[in-house]
Amino acid sequence: MELELLGNSEKSTSSKLSTVGKTLIYTTGGLAIGVSIICVPFVSPAFRKVCLPYVPATKLQLLGVARALKGRKGNLLDIGSGDGRIVFTAAKLGFKADGVELNTVLVLYSRICALLNRQYKETRFFRKNLWTFDLAPYNNIVIFGVEQMMNDLERKIVKETENDTVIVACRFPLPNMVPVQTIGHGVDTVWKYVVKK
Ligand SMILES: C[S@@+](CC[C@H](N)C(=O)[O-])C[C@H]1O[C@@H](n2cnc3c(N)ncnc32)[C@H](O)[C@@H]1O
Repeated sequence: MELELLGNSEKSTSSKLSTVGKTLIYTTGGLAIGVSIICVPFVSPAFRKVCLPYVPATKLQLLGVARALKGRKGNLLDIGSGDGRIVFTAAKLGFKADGVELNTVLVLYSRICALLNRQYKETRFFRKNLWTFDLAPYNNIVIFGVEQMMNDLERKIVKETENDTVIVACRFPLPNMVPVQTIGHGVDTVWKYVVKK
C-alpha cells in the first residue's frame, strides 16, 4: 500500500514536470515561429533580383529631403517607405503623403504610427510592389534606393510621371537626369530632380 502511494506521488510529480516541460516547449516554439514570421519580410529582399533592404533614412537625410521639398506642395510618394519616416516628415510639411512598401511588418507599423498621431491622419501606406505601383498621381516622389535599381527606376519615373514632377533621391542618384540641387554629402547626399517632358 505504502509503495503504491509512493508510486502515485512520483507519477503525479513527473506528470507535473512534463506539463511544465510541455508549456516551455510550446512557448519557446511559438516564440521562435513568431520571430521567424516577423524576420521573413526583412530577409526576403536578399533573394530578389534587386536587393533593396530596409535601411532607415538618417536625420541628415530627412533634413535634406525637407530642404529639397521646400516651396513644393501637393501629394508625395515615398517609394519603399520603410517605417514611414519620410512620409511622416512630408506630412508635417503639409503634403498629402503616401508610402508604398512590400514589407508587411513595416506597413503595419507605419499604419499604427499614423493612427496614433493626428498630424499623420491623411497618410496612406500601400503594401505593394514598387515596380508595379503607378507613379502618375504624384507630383513629388522620394526614393532611398540602391544603385542597381536606379536605371530601371529612372525609366519608370520618366514614363509615368507628369511634367514638373519633383524627384528626390537619397544616397544614390538617378544615373541620367541632371539634378537641379544637391544637398549634403557622403551617404547623406540628397539629389533633387525636376521631370521635363
Ligand atoms: C533603403 S529602405 C528606405 C526606407 C525609407 N524610405 C526610409 O528612407 O527610411 C528601402 C525600403 O524599400 C522596401 N522595398 C524593397 N523592395 C521593394 C519593392 N519591390 N516594393 C516596395 N518596397 C520595397 C524595403 O522593404 C525597405 O523598407
